[in-house]
Amino acid sequence: MTLNGKVELVTGAAQGIGRGIALRLAKDGADIAIVDINAEKMAEVAVAIEGLGQKATTFKADVGNRAEVYAAVEHAEKTLGGLNIMVNNAGIAQVDPIAEHRELRRGQARRPVLGAWPRETATLQHLVI
Ligand SMILES: NC(=O)c1ccc[n+]([C@@H]2O[C@H](COP(=O)([O-])OP(=O)(O)OC[C@H]3O[C@@H](n4cnc5c(N)ncnc54)[C@H](O)[C@@H]3O)[C@@H](O)[C@H]2O)c1
Repeated sequence: MTLNGKVELVTGAAQGIGRGIALRLAKDGADIAIVDINAEKMAEVAVAIEGLGQKATTFKADVGNRAEVYAAVEHAEKTLGGLNIMVNNAGIAQVDPIAEHRELRRGQARRPVLGAWPRETATLQHLVI
């Protein structure tokens, strides 16, 4: 598969699965907009992507904050010249027994789940036009 000339935005790409997705798609030729709440780790991923010969940009945003999500999409488009692919990865993976952390799980899940709506809407405006 080639993604030459494509611009991809990956949320939660500072580490873990999102980082892996960002690097994999950079290897396939995409330029990557990294969006996360962890600025330090995002910078490390950007260096790795640039080492693969692709452009990378970082934007610190909480996917549960509508204004920050819109700003992230705007930043990606302006910095990398467009936006073609969106990976809504950011979230929290809690693997403890649910019976022990039921209240914590509800609270943690709330922001990323609610964040999906503005994230997708903000992106669609750019993908459709
Ligand atoms: N690891 C698993 O076994 C597993 C299983 C099922 C689903 N998932 C889902 O896959 C996704 C990635 O999982 P992972 O294991 O790589 O997690 P991880 O904790 O290693 O990485 C999550 C990344 O998302 C970022 N992030 C968290 N909340 C954010 C927010 N509100 N706004 C912006 N960035 C935020 C973190 O800073 C981090 O860089 C999550 O949505 C998780 O729920 C993971």
